[in-house]
Amino acid sequence: MSVITPPSDLLRQQDPQMADVLDGEAQRQAATLQLSAAENFTSPAVLAALGSALANKYAEGYPGHRYHGGCEYADLAEGLAVERARALFGVEHANVQPHSGSAAVLAAYAALLRPGDTVLAMGLPYGGHLTHGSPANFSGRWFDFVGYGVDAETGLIDYLEVQELARLHRPKAIVCGSISYPRHPEYSVFREIADEVGAHLIADAAHPIGLVAGGAAPSPVPYADIVCATTHKVLRGPRGGMILCGAEFAERIDRAVFPFTQGGAQMHTIAAKAVAFGEAAAPAFTTYAHRVVANARALAESLAAHGFAVTTGGTDTHLITADPAPLGVDGPTARGRLAAAGIVLDTCALPYGDLRGIRLGTAAVTTQGMAEPEMARIALLFAAALRGESARTRPEVAELARGFPPYGA
Ligand SMILES: Cc1ncc(COP(=O)(O)O)c(C=O)c1O
Repeated sequence: MSVITPPSDLLRQQDPQMADVLDGEAQRQAATLQLSAAENFTSPAVLAALGSALANKYAEGYPGHRYHGGCEYADLAEGLAVERARALFGVEHANVQPHSGSAAVLAAYAALLRPGDTVLAMGLPYGGHLTHGSPANFSGRWFDFVGYGVDAETGLIDYLEVQELARLHRPKAIVCGSISYPRHPEYSVFREIADEVGAHLIADAAHPIGLVAGGAAPSPVPYADIVCATTHKVLRGPRGGMILCGAEFAERIDRAVFPFTQGGAQMHTIAAKAVAFGEAAAPAFTTYAHRVVANARALAESLAAHGFAVTTGGTDTHLITADPAPLGVDGPTARGRLAAAGIVLDTCALPYGDLRGIRLGTAAVTTQGMAEPEMARIALLFAAALRGESARTRPEVAELARGFPPYGA
């Protein structure tokens, strides 16, 4: 199969218009390089669970306590997902119902905070997520957010600044986690600061949680009161969220998810999360997670060799942020030229000034089986595309992508 999840014959017969759309997306994914740091290729087993009979099922509440009838298999699916998440992350309680990473963060705030409370989180210009206090998001409207930054020279979190801001503002909660920080947060330092000022510690581990599952990143579980996560990035599950916490917060978290912030759980997605957790517990996933980091390091090094200013000088994770300015373009222009060449990634804030850089990750290309030699080749393709040679580069990108079909040839 050279394309990804082609639409079934049934869909093509019934709705050729939508079948064409899905086929187009499958072809796009097969013929371009997916370097968005937030994306991956789920396994066929995860896709099978997503397209299963549980897509039809309403199941408000929790296993054994549902508002709907006929939940015996829904309960089994959620029970499996919860047990597998608990075992995978060594945690007392897991809630697998959040529809997304943002829904998980909303529930964490609902469990711990009241409107108007002060929260200390990474400022959006430095890599904070919308849910970390954007005025365009519920978080910025309902809570009083104070932002910490990163050092303008090193790009690293300045823990003394975090401590000073915590002492000054006495937040009710501190959030550690980012959309673009390529290094491991010092969870123990965040814990010490939170304890000093009597704040809760929320780890928004949406990005690194898959690396944590594979033993390739430190776990926030021993340090944070509540860990929020997504299941669709390095973790390679379906699009969705998850919350991990100790027994002490279990009841508050469950009530904060349902009925406070959500209605019926998406049972097909929960089944798919269980499948992904099962896959992540296998030794092959540990190998995968370490390869993701090795590939990101190799790619960061090659990009630096081609002139990109790589933030923090490299990466410890799947994620790289870089300023393409030394190559004569800004982030949005770079993203446009790379997209024209078939290289898909995002822009991001840079730790200094107002200009935007690029953000990329190696989760998807590693799932495809690419390794260090391909990372060097990708960096060469980046440099060619940014020189304005997108048209010449595109066939080479397609050839590389098609040489590593994520679902086999
Ligand atoms: C740190 C962080 N928090 C929350 C989210 C939100 O996840 P979602 O897009 O599933 O709502 C993201 C998404 O990338 C993220 O990076």
